Amino acid sequence: MADHQSVLILDFGGQYTQLIARRVRECHVLSEVVPWNVPVAEIRRRSPAGIILSGGPASVHDPEAPCCDPAVFGLGIPLLGICYGMQLTAHLLGGQVEKAREREYGRISVSLSGETALLHGLKAESPCWMSHTWQVAACPPGFRSIAASASCPVAAMACEEKQLYGVQFHPEVTHTEEGTLLLRNFLFALCRCTGDWTMADYKQNTVSSIRQKVGSGRILLALSGGVDSSVAAALLAEAVGDRLTCIFVDHGLMRLGEGDAVESTFSRRNLNFIRVNAEDRFLRRLFGITDPEQKRKTIGEEFIRIFEEESRKIGSVDYLAQGTIYPDVIESGLGDASVIKSHHNVGGLPAHVDFREILEPLRPLFKDEVRQLGLELGLPEQLVTRQPFPGPGLGIRIIGEITKEKLDLLRQADSIFQEEVKNAGLTSQCSQYFAALTNMRSVGVMGDSRSYDYAVALRCVETDDFMTADWVHLPYELLARISDRIVNEVQGINRVFYDITSKPPATVEYE
Ligand code: XMP
Repeated sequence: MADHQSVLILDFGGQYTQLIARRVRECHVLSEVVPWNVPVAEIRRRSPAGIILSGGPASVHDPEAPCCDPAVFGLGIPLLGICYGMQLTAHLLGGQVEKAREREYGRISVSLSGETALLHGLKAESPCWMSHTWQVAACPPGFRSIAASASCPVAAMACEEKQLYGVQFHPEVTHTEEGTLLLRNFLFALCRCTGDWTMADYKQNTVSSIRQKVGSGRILLALSGGVDSSVAAALLAEAVGDRLTCIFVDHGLMRLGEGDAVESTFSRRNLNFIRVNAEDRFLRRLFGITDPEQKRKTIGEEFIRIFEEESRKIGSVDYLAQGTIYPDVIESGLGDASVIKSHHNVGGLPAHVDFREILEPLRPLFKDEVRQLGLELGLPEQLVTRQPFPGPGLGIRIIGEITKEKLDLLRQADSIFQEEVKNAGLTSQCSQYFAALTNMRSVGVMGDSRSYDYAVALRCVETDDFMTADWVHLPYELLARISDRIVNEVQGINRVFYDITSKPPATVEYE
């Protein structure tokens, strides 16, 4: 790390702290999130090129409010306070923070006043994302207001002499149209960063810190074949080689050729790769189960049981690794959100495995950064750019009971759909597309004979965050070709439906 300029982000508990870190990384500057009470001596030791104080839910007037050491402002290091970070700067340096007459929330127009390096190149009036109840009413001595909104007199402030800055709005959120430009100004003009950091550096730094931590210890990883656990496996293998054991439980609910592809990718690497072919076992456990939640739970439990059995065979391991990424951390924080489906990653943590510690080397990264890291590690593009595929696999894309026959039908239909969308060059417009087997059989005619076969549903959605989704208007000619191919090539399917429901009210998956 010492080789790269870095920006320290003091975390005051704001919901966007990791997003700030990500935006800084996007500018090719190393960012490190540290707790708000990091000792000043530690900051000096790290000698960052810049410091950012994040937002946070507290009010500076709360007796319990998180408060950094005021010496942070006297280090001579350029500092940017965001939202709570700006209010704390004002409060500690003799300004005034008051409850706003009107709470500002959402996209608010902010007018800039006067020229400063921080706002250089920004439009005089710009929409910014605000989310605050308190605000700076009077700047501290030496500061001046450099932006205002209709109800917030100090939407940004600056003390150029000491290189201290604050913004009430959130430049890290994409709704702040010129947020990236503002952050770039801070990083490049004020902190004098050169943009010397890349994902290759993340790889190198993480590999060396894993080596340091693990020493001669052994690591166990549940590899599902999904993007996150695959990238974690490649990263850990680079760090500890054959002291990493990956257990890949092939539950038989994978897509066509998927289990073999995972095996061939990882068996070539310097790691212990164990593939457990457990299709029969899963099918036995799933026999007769039609309820979607029951299916999900059964698949999850069986996975964990097999993982535990296999890990007992290996003997004691020191570390259990997981491919947790930052959005998982956010989602698991939403304790009160009602359960629509009990989401389950087969790479999840089993309950009883003997290990000393959990390693989560991808924890600060967002999905697209994980993909970038995967490419950096030499994983095949096909694996790294894989669409989301649920842990319970095709098990929740078959309505009703799961059987081997149905799985094989679905695998073939899905593979044709995937191939045709790819050939049509439409993959970048479709966030997720797959076939699902309905529980409906109907009469058809094939040649001169009657058929009584299954109907398959095709689902193709476009979405940013998978919380809401629109169905994609695939061209009729393409749908016609896919339908022709499926009914001709897959014996056992005689009807093809195209799903034209958005989420909500439907979900992306069928169960
Ligand atoms: P739904 O069906 O809830 O899906 O609209 C939203 C996104 O989540 C994926 N999904 C899962 N991913 N384990 C996962 O890892 C699961 O159990 C699971 N269930 C749904 C789904 O494929 C879609 O991308």
